[in-house]
Amino acid sequence: MDLFDKCEVNMGPLGTYADRAEGYYMFPKLEGEISNKMMFQGKERLVWSLNNYLGLANHPEVRKADAQAAKDWGMAYPMGARMMSGHTKYHEQLEQQLADFVGRPSAYLLNYGYQGMVSIISTMVNRNDVIVYDSEAHACIIDGMRLHFGKRFVYPHNDMENLETQLKRATRMVAKTGGGILVITEGVYGMAGDLGNLPAIVALKEKYNFRILIDDAHGFGTMGPTGAGTDEHYGIQDKIDIYFGTFAKSMAGIGGFVAGDEKVIKFLKYNMRSQIFAKSLPMPMVIGALKRLELLRNDPSHREKLWTVVNALQKGLKDAGMNIGATESPVTPVILNGGVNEATQITYDLRENYDIFCSIVAYPVVPKGTILLRLIPTAVHTLEDVAYTIESFRTVKMKLDNKEYAQEMKAM
Ligand SMILES: Cc1ncc(COP(=O)(O)O)c(C=O)c1O
Repeated sequence: MDLFDKCEVNMGPLGTYADRAEGYYMFPKLEGEISNKMMFQGKERLVWSLNNYLGLANHPEVRKADAQAAKDWGMAYPMGARMMSGHTKYHEQLEQQLADFVGRPSAYLLNYGYQGMVSIISTMVNRNDVIVYDSEAHACIIDGMRLHFGKRFVYPHNDMENLETQLKRATRMVAKTGGGILVITEGVYGMAGDLGNLPAIVALKEKYNFRILIDDAHGFGTMGPTGAGTDEHYGIQDKIDIYFGTFAKSMAGIGGFVAGDEKVIKFLKYNMRSQIFAKSLPMPMVIGALKRLELLRNDPSHREKLWTVVNALQKGLKDAGMNIGATESPVTPVILNGGVNEATQITYDLRENYDIFCSIVAYPVVPKGTILLRLIPTAVHTLEDVAYTIESFRTVKMKLDNKEYAQEMKAM
């Protein structure tokens, strides 16, 4: 067998659909300015598919700061990894401001959210430690745990009774190994928009000795009275030991950060291999992030606008009889009954006949017989966009109920 045989024989769970889906359902090209309406295959569509929650991607001040920083510094500076030659006062400034904003003493930048999370996990645990994690953990958490040499126990999504069972097992285990316990949850679950049950997890700290790491990719900038995250939403920032956020969503950039106590962040800074042995974030990303953070902190109108759209969309969909699950965040799922065939037909119908572009999630990510259409409202959507979308979904659901999507779809 040749190593490359697999490239034709088994393309993997997503690659299997490549021939039929590439360019339309997978790897679609959205063109034009990032906004509520963008071009897809030559036609303007209403886009509900981007995590540009606060609408900062095309904010004039952001665009100006990005352009100026690129002009002043180029994309290369600083050359090298932070520890060797890639450290600047701007990186430090951004870290201090992020730490202040999320209410922690210290923060450290990460070149990518995903890669950063992998490294936080693999650095924080050794073979004697035990990880306890939610079954719906993001791929970056799963990959971080793949680098963990010790035990890991999973609890069904947000099942707090089962979490306690796993904590009992973990406690017995570390009594033998002499290690510690790390519980990992997300703040906002990015597919269905429900929140990690942080208060219940924190309450278990009274009975068990463990530390909590939250991945707040979707909560940073959107949740809490000041947008500081899901733990701020619950008023328990001081109980969450390690906070992780990314710049890829509300901050409309790239990169991320980890925040916590000084000794923990210092330990991560000196031990996270993906940051020590990889090039530092380029200056335009750092200076651009400083501008985004300034807007995020000082101008609540973006978050207020976001939530006006979120509330109108979620209420409207519910009033129209849609099942939007248990979301408490901007992420808005519309859950319908049907298989992969219906899911692709609905998406096609929405895109071609209603000019609505949203993402679909079908089996195996959601249970068989369930379709999840995921809408991401942002501050640049309008209430007209919301009304139009609710009407369109009402019609599409009627068609689904009347079995109009039951026919096998012809090849595209
Ligand atoms: C929950 C969660 N964690 C981590 C990431 C990775 O972040 P980034 O895109 O900054 O690498 C994402 C983004 O897709 C995410 O949704």
